[in-house]
Amino acid sequence: MIRSVVRGIGAALPRRIMKNADFEGMVETSDEWIAQRTGIRQRHIAADDETTASLGEAAARAALDNAGLTPADIDLIVLATSTPNNTFPATAVEIQNRLGMHHGFAFDMQAVCSGFVYAVTTADLYIRGGLARRVLVIGSETFSRILDWNDRSTCVLFGDGAGALVLEAGEGSGAIADRGVLAASLRSDGVHKDKLFVDGGPSTTGTVGHLRMEGREVFKHAVGMITDVIEATFSQAGITADDLDWFVPHQANKRIIDASAKKLGIAEPKVVVTVDQHGNTSAASVPLALAAAVSDGRIKRGDLVLLEAMGGGFTWGAVLVRW
Ligand code: UT7
Repeated sequence: MIRSVVRGIGAALPRRIMKNADFEGMVETSDEWIAQRTGIRQRHIAADDETTASLGEAAARAALDNAGLTPADIDLIVLATSTPNNTFPATAVEIQNRLGMHHGFAFDMQAVCSGFVYAVTTADLYIRGGLARRVLVIGSETFSRILDWNDRSTCVLFGDGAGALVLEAGEGSGAIADRGVLAASLRSDGVHKDKLFVDGGPSTTGTVGHLRMEGREVFKHAVGMITDVIEATFSQAGITADDLDWFVPHQANKRIIDASAKKLGIAEPKVVVTVDQHGNTSAASVPLALAAAVSDGRIKRGDLVLLEAMGGGFTWGAVLVRW
C-alpha cells in the first residue's frame, strides 16, 4: 500500500523576539503571570516585510533543502493558515510562485490551530489517492497582525512563524512498522465558534478584525477534546501511549500540554515543548515543534510520533506518523 512518508522538514521564524517583560509597559501584566499561567517566555513577531507568504516560503525552502529536493519535485502545496496575505488568492499560490513553481497545484486550509493536523491528513489522502506524489505541507501564521494589542488576555499568548514538511509517496506493508502517516482522526463542532474567533471578515464587516477568546472556556474543553481524538487515533492504529516515542502537541499552554500527557499516560520526557520559545503560533506550532525536535536529534528515523492540535471552531485532531 502507499504511505505518505516524511522526507524533509524546515522552519522559519521572524527576526524579532519579544520577551514577556516587553509587555509590561504596554498592558497590565507581568512576566511572572504569563510564565506561570501559560509557560510562554518569549515569541517571535513579524516585521512589516515578514508575512505569512515570506515565512511560509522560507520554511518550504528549508524543508526542500532538508529533503534534497527542489520545487520541481513537488506536485502540491497545502498551506494551513488563518492569517493569509490576502483574502484571496490563496497564500499557497503566492508561495508556489515565490518558489518559481508553475506546475502542480496549491491551496490553503483554514482550521485555525488545528490547521497543520488537518493539512497533513489532507496531503496524505491526495498522496494515497494518487493525485500527488510529493506534497509540501506548510503551517505559516502572522497572528501578531490580528491581535488586539490592548487586550492583555490575548496579546501575550500568540506569536508568528512557519514550519513545513515534505511528504512523499512510499511503499508500505500496511503494518504499524511502516514509515509514514499511519492513522488520523479529525473533529470540529461549530457550536463553540464564539469562544475563539476573529471579529471581522470579508462577508460580514468587510474588515480583517481582531482575535477574541474566552480563554477559560477554551481551556475547559481542551484536555477532553485532545485526549478523545488521540484515543480514537490509538485505537485506529492498535497502539497504546507506551508505544509512542514522541508526543508533539499544539503549543498553546504548557498546562494544557501537561494535563493532556498526564491523562493519556505519556511520560514527560517524550513530550516536545516549544511554547516557552514561540508562544502559540496557531497552525505553525506543531511543525515548529517537530522541526526543533528533529534538528536537536530527538526525533529520528523510525520513531513513532503523535501530533495533536485543538483550536478555533472548535476544531481538533491527531495524526500518528512513523518518522
Ligand atoms: O490555540 C487555541 C487554543 N487556545 C488555548 O488553548 C488557550 C486556552 N486558555 C488558556 O490558555 C488560559 O485560559 C489563559 C492563559 C488564556 C488564561 O489563564 P487562566 O488561568 O484560565 O486565567 P483566567 O482567564 O481565569 O484569568 C485569571 C485572571 C483574571 O483576573 P480576575 O478576573 O481573576 O481578576 C484575568 O483578568 O488573570 C487575569 N489576566 C491577566 N493578568 C495578568 C488575564 N490575562 C492576564 C495577563 N496578565 N496577561
